[in-house]
Amino acid sequence: MRTRFTEAFGVEHPIVQGGMQWVGRAELVSAVANAGGLGFLTALTQPTPGALAEEIARCRSMTDRPFGVNLTILPSITPPPYAEYREAIIAGGIGIVETAGHNPGPHIEHFKAHGIKVIHKCTAVRHALTAERLGVDAVSIDGFECAGHPGEDDIPGLVLIPAAADKVRIPMLASGGFGDGRGLAAALALGADGINMGSRFCATREAPIHDGIKQAMVANDERDTALLFRSYRNTARVARNSVAREALAIERQGKPFEALAHLVRGLRGREGLERGNPEHGVWTVGLVQGLIHDVPTVAELIGRIMREAENIITGRLGGMILHQA
Ligand SMILES: Cc1cc2nc3c(=O)[nH]c(=O)nc-3n(C[C@H](O)[C@H](O)[C@H](O)COP(=O)(O)O)c2cc1C
Repeated sequence: MRTRFTEAFGVEHPIVQGGMQWVGRAELVSAVANAGGLGFLTALTQPTPGALAEEIARCRSMTDRPFGVNLTILPSITPPPYAEYREAIIAGGIGIVETAGHNPGPHIEHFKAHGIKVIHKCTAVRHALTAERLGVDAVSIDGFECAGHPGEDDIPGLVLIPAAADKVRIPMLASGGFGDGRGLAAALALGADGINMGSRFCATREAPIHDGIKQAMVANDERDTALLFRSYRNTARVARNSVAREALAIERQGKPFEALAHLVRGLRGREGLERGNPEHGVWTVGLVQGLIHDVPTVAELIGRIMREAENIITGRLGGMILHQA
């Protein structure tokens, strides 16, 4: 399959694995690259910029295909040393960066000055247009379905993607809620040039998280997520487990973030992912859980998505057109 995205980024398939805190490590990213997709290491999963440099080298030893690094800029009282992470990415010879989060402008400028292609991931058409003006090479648009931060507008992909396609001129990835070939075919029909997936890649053999979490994704359905932090205007979609319910109950009493911080700490979420206990902390996942029924290898998953999308486009959809004799 050839799209503006595969052409511009030199990847075989129009399938991207977005940055994922604690999950976007070399094991997964190299597997995505080896299967012909584009994977992103997650910069802030590494404790220091030096550790990121080592992770980039480790990933390079596992694939000879291109891969990228995600840099997520989130509001924080004590921000990580973003400029130093950025320098580690540049010094590491990375050719593609996924930026996400608040005010990425200065970082985008630096990456572009070093000839690095940038995909900016955002949740609104207006933000995609700003990123386009800043000179990014592509945008990824996360709909309301997505795992993690869907923004505050609550526009699902079915409207958000074509609304963006009407205005954005650079290549565009549809993100949030994608997990199979039906989703890829739909994204292309809506005007996207490929898909970005997070949750679906967590439920693969190579994803470096405990099998207990992968099996929880298989068992959960599309109703098993919750939106936390809505009242702080920093909405996050996570698995609807006992910890998320407890945090939500505190938030709904109108209490400040500090009152539930102990429940949603990143470390606690990370421990849950590593120990395989889906009730230990808060963990990020999207509505697409309802479409996850197995834990294949990354190569099996990508191959299956491509075959299914091609069959839908050339078979099922093509067969609906009535030709006049
Ligand atoms: C476990 C997990 C962690 C994530 N962490 C990040 C992150 O640190 N930075 C980021 O830009 N996106 C993050 N995301 C969002 C994904 O990159 C992607 O945009 C999103 O998962 C797409 O929605 P989907 O899960 O429905 O495919 C995360 C997603 C998951 C599932």
